[in-house]
Amino acid sequence: LPRILIGAPIDSGQRRAGCLMGPAAYRVAGIAQALADLGHGVEDRGDLAPGPLSAIHSPNPAVHSLAETVAWTRALAAAGQAAMAAGFPIFMGGDHSLSLGSVAGVAAQAAAVGRPLFVLWLDAHSDFHTPLTTTSGNLHGTPLAYIAGEPGFDAFAPFPAPVPADRICLYGIRSIDPAEYATMLARQVTVVDMRDIDESGIVAPLRAFLDRVRAAGGMLHVSLDVDFLDPGIAPAVGTTVPGGITFREAHLVMEHLHDSGLVTSLDLVELNPFLDERGRTAKLMVDLVGSLMGRKVFDRPTRSFG
Ligand code: ARG
Ligand code: MN
Ligand code: MN
Ligand code: MN
Repeated sequence: LPRILIGAPIDSGQRRAGCLMGPAAYRVAGIAQALADLGHGVEDRGDLAPGPLSAIHSPNPAVHSLAETVAWTRALAAAGQAAMAAGFPIFMGGDHSLSLGSVAGVAAQAAAVGRPLFVLWLDAHSDFHTPLTTTSGNLHGTPLAYIAGEPGFDAFAPFPAPVPADRICLYGIRSIDPAEYATMLARQVTVVDMRDIDESGIVAPLRAFLDRVRAAGGMLHVSLDVDFLDPGIAPAVGTTVPGGITFREAHLVMEHLHDSGLVTSLDLVELNPFLDERGRTAKLMVDLVGSLMGRKVFDRPTRSFG
């Protein structure tokens, strides 16, 4: 299955300029070569562009760049579904509003082949606002609610096949706004916050979720936000939150995802190369993709999963 690179220089989901350089930074950091070195076929489809903007505005005056984000979502959903039918899409953002479209495309294709889609959200934030509840007005804080089929997304196409709450797992969470909290509590999504990780270790809650995906014969979309990582190792993001995932924990998550064989699509989001230090965050993200795609320090047959 070829790895299909899709650049999405979207930055309408937040206010700080720079995420539009993300796809270029991943290419400079060698993402295609890293995948090829692991034996994967690679197809880089270049960068997407949003289609024409229609004149729409939100009933919530805080919301900004709605028309642009809707246009990006449409383009990403179409490209995402096509890529999903042809291989393993890797969406290179761009801010996290990218996932409004990438997951819509992935979900449409999962529905077309009749398989349940699961979503793993690796993030400091829960991104469970709707355009009606957000107070920052930044739509990068909303994709999970769209994916889960919450109301309030009238400006967007209806989400093709909403992902039930019990197929969504948030991981590494350490920042939740009150409105998101209430919705997630009511819907009973699985939230693995930093306390859970500190108490159980990084692997156990992940293994439990992956067991559920496997038992259901599911496909798994992974959405990796740079701010999942500790700011000390990943400074190139506009929304750092202290106390994040360490270098070793992050690689271990990726290694378990690889060994599970369940991951079918991936978002890389929120990288802001303008905030980076000599490319270290971009390089770390590419290294993590390497671990997710099969790189191992020392491979032994007994260390396999499932
Ligand atoms: N909850 C905050 C907001 O809605 C932060 C969202 C951060 N999201 C992200 N994708 N980095 O503004
Ligand atoms: Mn940005
Ligand atoms: Mn996010
Ligand atoms: Mn985040």
